[in-house]
Amino acid sequence: MSTDTPTIDAPTIDAPTIDDGAATDAFVGRLFESALGAMDLFTIGLGSRLGLYAALQEHGPQTSTELAAHAGVAERYAREWLEQQAVTGILEVGPGSAAERRYTLPEAVVPVLLEPTHPAYLAPLAALVPPLGTLFERLVEVYRTGEGVSWSEFPAEAVEAQAALNRPAFTHELGGWLAAVPEIDERLSAGPSRIADLGCGGGWSTQALARRYPEAVVHGFDIDDASIAMARRSVAGSEVEERVAFEVCDLAGPADIAYDAATMFEALHDLSHPVQVLTSIRRSLVPGGILLVADERAADTFTAPGDPFERLFYASSVLVCLPGSLADGGVGTGAAIRPSTVRSYAEQAGFASCEVAPIDSPMFRFYLLRAPA
Ligand SMILES: C[S@@+](CC[C@H](N)C(=O)[O-])C[C@H]1O[C@@H](n2cnc3c(N)ncnc32)[C@H](O)[C@@H]1O
Repeated sequence: MSTDTPTIDAPTIDAPTIDDGAATDAFVGRLFESALGAMDLFTIGLGSRLGLYAALQEHGPQTSTELAAHAGVAERYAREWLEQQAVTGILEVGPGSAAERRYTLPEAVVPVLLEPTHPAYLAPLAALVPPLGTLFERLVEVYRTGEGVSWSEFPAEAVEAQAALNRPAFTHELGGWLAAVPEIDERLSAGPSRIADLGCGGGWSTQALARRYPEAVVHGFDIDDASIAMARRSVAGSEVEERVAFEVCDLAGPADIAYDAATMFEALHDLSHPVQVLTSIRRSLVPGGILLVADERAADTFTAPGDPFERLFYASSVLVCLPGSLADGGVGTGAAIRPSTVRSYAEQAGFASCEVAPIDSPMFRFYLLRAPA
């Protein structure tokens, strides 16, 4: 072997970044916690749907045999669920053998899981997320084809949960939101008026508007039959029933009544054809009439990583809202809707102005869209 082989400098390759594994460990921890959180939602969903929390509240501390009898479920399942709920820290548990232990629903948990109009009520999250799993394969498909998934394809439980999630805010906060906009509030408080609640879903906002304005007639419109059926069921027998009507309708179609004001809660970003819809609404308003839009309070510009609300908006968008707004050849707005987008839609739809209303809310940003006088 020759000893005079020319030496060739080895090319320099950047050494891979080697950390001490802390970032990887942190991500492993995060994913593990996410899995626990997802499974909490499923087990809470089971407890809500089967009436297990309600039975615990009604009958007080009980064993698995007692809960099984009260809620009409199999004892072996009741026992496993109770043990899991105690291990995950939701229920309190007393001493004794598996058969003797009594489980208690803590006071602090009651409004969150069992009081549909309480501001802390969040059980609908556990009713919303698990059923979305049934759409997983459909999402895989539309992510490849670019098609949308219309609201009516979502499981009925998820649609009901969406309505239930917003119900406490409509019940307790809607009056304050409107009071912060005297221009609308004074006009609607002054005497008889007509209000359109657009994309009303389960109709809780429509009912709240009727309660706020005792002389108003309020019409709730939504394209989804199941939502309108739910809205009709919930208003039946209430004190505002006579002044509230619900109708299945595509907001992109023409309107035949003139409204003094209109509202649209958390629906603009879901619309396939937002400019067409806003144009139709603008035409249905009296001259100078106002459309109050409430939509996600997404950051003004793309910001990553985002705060928990921004994460919620994006996750909802990836799974529900973007597919919804791409349905029917839609523009695909999605839940990370920003003020610049709303202004652009309002301008294209012929509104005279679009401004952010001075209303405080962690979830929603409010916009006032004024029809030309
Ligand atoms: C996120 S949900 C909000 C529902 C309700 N406003 C609430 O806050 O609970 C959006 C709603 O917009 C409705 N929607 C979407 N596109 C529509 C259209 N073209 N015409 C009427 N409603 C529509 C959906 O059916 C759905 O009920």
